[in-house]
Amino acid sequence: MAKPVVLVTRKLPDDVEARLSSLFDARLNSADTPWFRDGAEIARRASEAGAAGVLCAAGDPMNAQTIAALPDSVKIITTFSVGTDHIALDAAKARGIAVTHTPEVLSFATAETAFTLMLMAARRAGEGERMVRAGKWEGWAPTQLMGVTLQGKTLGVLGFGRIGRELADMARGMQMTIHYHDVQRAAPELEKGAVFHASEDTFLPAIDVISMHVPGGDATRKWLNATRLAKMKTGAIVINTGRGPSVDDEALVAALKSGHIRAAGLDVYTAEPKVDPGYFGLENVALLPHLGSATIETRAAMGERCIVNLEALLLKGTNPPHRAA
Ligand code: DGY
Repeated sequence: MAKPVVLVTRKLPDDVEARLSSLFDARLNSADTPWFRDGAEIARRASEAGAAGVLCAAGDPMNAQTIAALPDSVKIITTFSVGTDHIALDAAKARGIAVTHTPEVLSFATAETAFTLMLMAARRAGEGERMVRAGKWEGWAPTQLMGVTLQGKTLGVLGFGRIGRELADMARGMQMTIHYHDVQRAAPELEKGAVFHASEDTFLPAIDVISMHVPGGDATRKWLNATRLAKMKTGAIVINTGRGPSVDDEALVAALKSGHIRAAGLDVYTAEPKVDPGYFGLENVALLPHLGSATIETRAAMGERCIVNLEALLLKGTNPPHRAA
């Protein structure tokens, strides 16, 4: 029997591509050419190939228009990401197309990225690195690039899901106190003594660092705006490894310029791959290119999640284990 066709929108790790090709007629995007930015092109390729599955990634425009244009042969969209804000889940559901994602396997790696940014921001690591590379370092000096220690500070986790909780565990190792704000309180075994705030009005003034782990979409758009930034302590630090649109860039740039916010560390941006130019002129912001889950181990595990889901629906006729819709 012919293998089901899976249209793959991005270059994937070699081992993942090899395993995909062993099970499916995988139409790979080996050179990662940018056709994946165009929803009409994704749908056209899926039609031409008679695809049963589309393996897409964070940022691919799997909006209602793209989903409407997919051929009837498509039964599953599996995204190489935990986030699904790039996919119109309702539109997929209405067409009876299953959507799956890659939860759990990237929580630690993404928390590591948040932790890296937290240290970069607190200890001015980006600034120091730029100074050395530019040949501007003139030697050790008692007042040079003094940052703040994280020891004894309060980390505020916005969104106490798996990634936020992994970060909390790491921060406990730095002797930080953990507070969190979420729609509901976590069970005691997950909370591990972290202080829950039902209200942002008590959460924001209580913390020294906010680390944002909220999903994208309308509910969180520009959540961190001028009003909420003003409620934070002077000298607080902002970290975002969740989704870019949940930060109001203009407001954050203004708070970084005024010094009300000491420093920020960002891995995600409102209109990726564009970065608000306001950040480029600031020394007190560390900018990473959406590296959250970018470890060899994690990307292999994410690939495996995609394969297991495709296998379930297209080869075994069973419900995929990691459904988002
Ligand atoms: C995700 O998985 O949603 C990330 O943002 C990409 O690794």
